[in-house]
Amino acid sequence: MSRKILVTSALPYANGAIHLGHLVEYIQTDIWVRFQKMSGNECWYVCADDTHGTPIMLRAEKEGITPEQLIGRVHGEHSRDFAGFHVGFDNFYSTHSPETRECANDIYGKLKAAGLIEVRTIEQYYDPVKQMFLPDRFIKGECPKCHAKDQYGDNCEVCGAAYAPTDLIEPFSAVSGAKPELRNSDHYFFKLSDPRCESFLRQYTSSGVLQNEAANKMQEWLGAPGENKLTDWDISRDAPYFGFEIPDAPGKYFYVWLDAPIGYMGSFKNLCAQKGLDFDEYFRKDSTTELYHFIGKDILYFHALFWPAELQHAGFRTPTKIFAHGFLTVDGAKMSKSRGTFITAESFLATGLNPEWLRYYFAAKLSNTMEDIDLSFDDFVARVNSDLVGKYVNIASRSAGFISKRFTGQLAPADASLPAIKAIQEAAPRIAEHYEAREFGKAVREIMALTDLANQYVDSVKPWELAKQEGKEVELHAACSNALNLFRLLTVLLKPVLPVVAQQVEGFLNSAPLTWADAQNLLAAGHAINAYSHLMTRVDPKLIEKLIEANKASLAPAAEVAAVDAKKTAKTEKPAEKKEAAPAGDGLCSIDDFMKIDLRIARIANAEHVESADKLVRLTLDIGEEKPRNVFAGIKAAYDPAQLIGRLTVMVANLAPRKMKFGLSEGMVMAASDPDGKTPGIYLLSPDSGAQPGMRVK
Ligand code: 2FM
Ligand code: ZN
Repeated sequence: MSRKILVTSALPYANGAIHLGHLVEYIQTDIWVRFQKMSGNECWYVCADDTHGTPIMLRAEKEGITPEQLIGRVHGEHSRDFAGFHVGFDNFYSTHSPETRECANDIYGKLKAAGLIEVRTIEQYYDPVKQMFLPDRFIKGECPKCHAKDQYGDNCEVCGAAYAPTDLIEPFSAVSGAKPELRNSDHYFFKLSDPRCESFLRQYTSSGVLQNEAANKMQEWLGAPGENKLTDWDISRDAPYFGFEIPDAPGKYFYVWLDAPIGYMGSFKNLCAQKGLDFDEYFRKDSTTELYHFIGKDILYFHALFWPAELQHAGFRTPTKIFAHGFLTVDGAKMSKSRGTFITAESFLATGLNPEWLRYYFAAKLSNTMEDIDLSFDDFVARVNSDLVGKYVNIASRSAGFISKRFTGQLAPADASLPAIKAIQEAAPRIAEHYEAREFGKAVREIMALTDLANQYVDSVKPWELAKQEGKEVELHAACSNALNLFRLLTVLLKPVLPVVAQQVEGFLNSAPLTWADAQNLLAAGHAINAYSHLMTRVDPKLIEKLIEANKASLAPAAEVAAVDAKKTAKTEKPAEKKEAAPAGDGLCSIDDFMKIDLRIARIANAEHVESADKLVRLTLDIGEEKPRNVFAGIKAAYDPAQLIGRLTVMVANLAPRKMKFGLSEGMVMAASDPDGKTPGIYLLSPDSGAQPGMRVK
């Protein structure tokens, strides 16, 4: 009987590009889903962009666009990249959706009704310039242990110490540079430490839903029986925040990690409306459908503890299994921007590399463990060229032409007793088990051993020699027909990994879409095939060099907000990924780029010398805001501060604030000077009379 299965991959943040590290997971999931679909199961694969949180809000602000514009643009980029690698979501949606909001409110309401939500006042760092509470990763300062400067608020990247932001020496806001203040705020907590959650999670995490390694980790997190190590989870954030406002708590928003997994539900709900599916059938407590989450091992805490506990106590079904995978290393090391191994999906495709090469390579390396997998480029080139081109495609390219030219494209009966055919048919159920168990490396190894057998057959019958001999028509026809049948059977087995090649093969073999059951049948005598055209080229190692160079070239100087590293820890919000530089262009700037600069008429309310600074004047600028801006300008040589007071000039109002020795500089005034230094002097810009402070300059 066909199974009903819902599958998800982790939701990518809507502020960074998809890279090869992400693709390990999407390709792994996609292969599994394609296998389920081919096997006749009703399987739905949903995902969405993870759109909420402080990093996305600040990134949008920095780009001078709204968060909605940012997530809209990134959704387009992500959709393009996933399609490029043939990741076949049934729905790729957004957490910023009515469905996700509805599900989040529903779950929150039910947890509250169950007495599992509690409000507590907490003390948190607040940025008085930016007027917002700061997530830990947006606070920097000196490490309390090793005294390294410029360390994040949660842990030191130099000595590895973990601490609270309040432990930092001389903390400052990574957003504005300002000294943060401790302020009180009411936060909403999900009571994970409640005995109901604890007893449920003890049973759930040891019931076989997790890989052994993950289950052991959970026991550590839960503590020994009798020792409840679970702590309550802070699910609210204060305005300003890009997210969903909590229904009964104005100014409080759901923390991004609360609504992210609910985004799985939201995406599926949206798919249900499109396809006429019954959402409740998949999510009600007694559902007989299966629910699988593919995730990276770093986000286990959220998926194996918070998420099932929420679902359970809000009256929904819990995940059938959670499949965690390891990280990707490239040539044995962590992906690195400076080495050019932090490779984006877009650059891989733009370089002209075939996405199915990567799908095959990842499949060959993947298992069902949480071990990291390594992309070794030499191995990548060797395997693709040897396995896919040298072995697999070679079977078709050595036999198809003769069928077309000599036998009007029609096949002779295949020999069902041929050892290679029998071997494939016997192996197919075993290979199916490997796919089902996510042991793709094992599946690929078996398929390649069968491909070797098929090649041995072709080598033994030598169609190219039969073709030269008179009176060997029958043998040639049989040999090529057997070879093409072998090729078709191997294509069935490889189809979850190579969907595009499989589709081309279906075209050339003139066959309906291949299903797993087709591994047990053969093409009938007289079946007419279409002309063969080459299915796959060899990898040119020069393309790899080009790829690495392209990714080195895209290295950007870290922008201030983006400088909050992409590093994440299991219990914290993942901050923004580093901003990628725009590729070097023709030196022109688009109107969109220009419009990002917020130029304003400013009235110099005050101007004064800065003690012990040779070049600087401290300007107090009125641009019609409640509080005037403080700006340090290098104009001391040209102006007496007293002359400046009261005059109008032009300032860049959205420049990231800069912490200077003398204080925070919150913008820049515009002045002309001769780049060659032939005409000395600095000349502040002035508007024509009539301009008012705060007017936009375009
Ligand atoms: O770690 C991440 O990249 C998160 N955006 C994953 C979210 S998965 C799910 F919970 F939504
Ligand atoms: Zn340290």
